[in-house]
Amino acid sequence: MDHFLYRNGSLHAEDVPVSDIAAAVGTPFYVYSTATLLRHFSLFDEALAGTDHLVCYAMKAASNQAILKTLAQAGAGMDVVSVGEYLRARAAGVPGERIVFSGVGKTAEEIRTALEGGIRQFNVESEPELEVLNAVALSLGKIAPITIRVNPDVDAKTHAKIATGKSENKFGIPIARAREVYALAGAMRGLDVIGIDVHIGSQLTDLAPFEQAYLKVAELTTLLRADGHDIRRLDLGGGLGIPYERSNSAPPLPLDYGALIKRTVGHLGCEIEIEPGRLIAGNAGIMVCRVIYVKQGEGRDFLILDGAMNDLIRPAMYDAHHDIVPLVEPEPGVETRPYDIVGPVCETGDTFARQRAMSPLAAGDTIAFRSAGAYGAVMASEYNTRPLIPEVLVKGDQFAVIRHRPTFDEIINRDTIPEWL
Ligand code: LLP
Repeated sequence: MDHFLYRNGSLHAEDVPVSDIAAAVGTPFYVYSTATLLRHFSLFDEALAGTDHLVCYAMKAASNQAILKTLAQAGAGMDVVSVGEYLRARAAGVPGERIVFSGVGKTAEEIRTALEGGIRQFNVESEPELEVLNAVALSLGKIAPITIRVNPDVDAKTHAKIATGKSENKFGIPIARAREVYALAGAMRGLDVIGIDVHIGSQLTDLAPFEQAYLKVAELTTLLRADGHDIRRLDLGGGLGIPYERSNSAPPLPLDYGALIKRTVGHLGCEIEIEPGRLIAGNAGIMVCRVIYVKQGEGRDFLILDGAMNDLIRPAMYDAHHDIVPLVEPEPGVETRPYDIVGPVCETGDTFARQRAMSPLAAGDTIAFRSAGAYGAVMASEYNTRPLIPEVLVKGDQFAVIRHRPTFDEIINRDTIPEWL
């Protein structure tokens, strides 16, 4: 459920007509719903009720500080994958002890900043990273709390570009070598080995791969404890999928995911962390665009929008489906027609949907891409010198621009010209 519904024939974000926002900020733009963000966060929080846990929002999904602050005020921690994300979370008021640092390529500088600023734990992905982390911690006279990310060799059955838990992926340490690597880490004076981390992929629409992975983590916990490690925290990653195509998808619910966690690792007495991103932010955001032209092509009509692949890259990059709806609710029973829905960027990949059935649309009409809150604005670029589009946050009947549209001067003046020119 989200809070983007038609009321009196016009799409609303909570209590605000989306067309009012379009009139105020111009298209294209992203708009997020506070109520949806909070609802999705609390679904996870409630699913883990009764266990010691922290829901660490994977802020890579949507990292505007207003979103981070909304979630942090509700009790969320953050999962960060770069020092930039770490600093952004801190700027949004998230304390270091609620931030976990994931990622395969943390540099010594990134590690230093997080250790100095305060961090809940590092999720370490390789032996060389252990060495660097240990050295930096010792140089600062600190002890770094760590988990080691294990790769359980599980097929997440998701898009190849976002599966991470197979042995051929770059992530984590093969679970078969975990004891050896934990022994290495346990002997390092700058590290406190507190737990295990696993994350097998994103947009999972079946619970079975989670179950396989978590059972392996449970088994490993027992082995590592027998080896003398005080395993007291399990970070079980993110990845629960969302219904991108409302008419024919029903991914598992957070409540069932929570029950699975309790069933597979609950008996171990560990503190549980999870790192959901998409399920919290995905359906909490839409991207709103205007139709610039309706162009009649060879046997097909193109809707040419003012938004493009640089604003929402998921269809071009993962062949992702996003439901697309007009801001003005179609009359009941209106006959749909197929459109190819495209942006103005100069490549064929700038196609959002092919032969999508829509109620008839004309130049000037406004439409919304649903489920665009996660991996939307954060993956945008200024390709074709198109300004990053604004982000707006709604709460009840209020809305605020939370990132403005840069002016062309701001964009152009970021370049510097060498003196020889
Ligand atoms: N934890 C780790 C270590 C991750 O790598 C990720 C996502 C998450 C948590 C959050 O996963 P989520 O709950 O959002 O599925 N750009 C792609 C998705 C990339 C996901 C990368 N890692 C897309 O647009 O589908």
